Amino acid sequence: MLVPAVLLLFGASAFAAPSTRGIGSLEKTGKELFLANCAACHGPDGKGRSRSRVGFDVALPDFSDPDFSSREPASDWAGIARNGGPSRGFSEIMPSFGEALSMEEIEAAVEYIKTLADDDDWPSGNFNLPRPLVTGKAYLEDEIIFSGSLTEKDGGLGSIGGKIVYEQRFGTRNMWEVVLPFGWSERFIDPLSSKPEWGANLGDAALAVKRAFYFNLDRGSILSGAAELILPTGDRASGFGKGTFVFEPFLTFGQILPADFFLQAQAGMEIPFDTEKAEHEVFARIAFGRSFNFKPWGRTWSPMVEVLAAKELAAGEKIIYDIVPQVQVTLNKRQHIMLNIGVRLPLNEREGRHPVVLAYLLWDWFDGAFFDGW
Ligand code: HEC
Repeated sequence: MLVPAVLLLFGASAFAAPSTRGIGSLEKTGKELFLANCAACHGPDGKGRSRSRVGFDVALPDFSDPDFSSREPASDWAGIARNGGPSRGFSEIMPSFGEALSMEEIEAAVEYIKTLADDDDWPSGNFNLPRPLVTGKAYLEDEIIFSGSLTEKDGGLGSIGGKIVYEQRFGTRNMWEVVLPFGWSERFIDPLSSKPEWGANLGDAALAVKRAFYFNLDRGSILSGAAELILPTGDRASGFGKGTFVFEPFLTFGQILPADFFLQAQAGMEIPFDTEKAEHEVFARIAFGRSFNFKPWGRTWSPMVEVLAAKELAAGEKIIYDIVPQVQVTLNKRQHIMLNIGVRLPLNEREGRHPVVLAYLLWDWFDGAFFDGW
């Protein structure tokens, strides 16, 4: 009940008049457009007016906070201002300006909002390219990822793998990460029985830190470096662990390409502490894809293809190649819950290597609770 009352109030007084005046007056600067149309709620400084001033309970974002402002591409903000809060799963108190302002005027107002935060040292949300199934991203995330894999073996299902990844940003350009893998496989658990059974296992947990060393939005490039420590928590005998600590340094690179295409690449090395149990390995991965919106401001579909190369640094070992076609899709209006499904297919050395079905469900928790914005 409060909402319509407030909208009426604001509609009648605060911005109906300025916004009608706004039509056709492209000479108006972004700042003037913002002050006339948005500041009634968002405040002249963009910090959001107090609840007592605006008379509603929905918290207003702080556009002057670089940690918030740097993550959101200007085009997403312009979309929200054009179509209103509910178009992206936000409150209906955030009005739709699609009728009152032209798209140029909305973009000018958003461009002004983007100047309110001093976020030069924060990698822009434009670098937040769709996450490939295997290749690591250069952008820093606040995410929880639930991923799974199904591996075939001769004559049946070989194993089911699962992984929970928690990622959190700190400072302007750093992130830490914890990985908890687990799985089920069919094997001889009871030594006296001749029948294999399904058993659950923990995999090798990992801790990592990542830092964005370089980013340049004009060029569309971002480069990060990371150091990961893999712990021998998994069961080596059942294939769920390496049985030794492994240090894994790697570099990741993201490139925004014209027409919504993108490229992401990662290269690194696995250095086991105990070389009796695991070999040194080098790897390189590349992902190429494009994002599509079939309906303006609707679900985003991102088909991608990854090529993976890995080589154990031991005499006689060949480079092993895989290809991973996949599709990521945003599931909700806020676009902070995503699903990706693909299949990892061996390209060479096929003997004993089977296709693996891979999937993840990703929750960008900075953008809201799991059930917000559907
Ligand atoms: C009647 C009050 C009101 C006016 C006027 C208003 N907004 Fe908002 N706006 C809100 C509220 C409330 C939210 C928060 C919605 C939520 O969190 O569910 C919001 C959220 C937003 C967001 C989403 C930020 C995010 O979390 O990603 C953007 C972008 C935005 N407003 C831009 C604008 C622009 C641009 C204008 C002027 C053209 C404007 N708003 C005018 C009330 C208003």
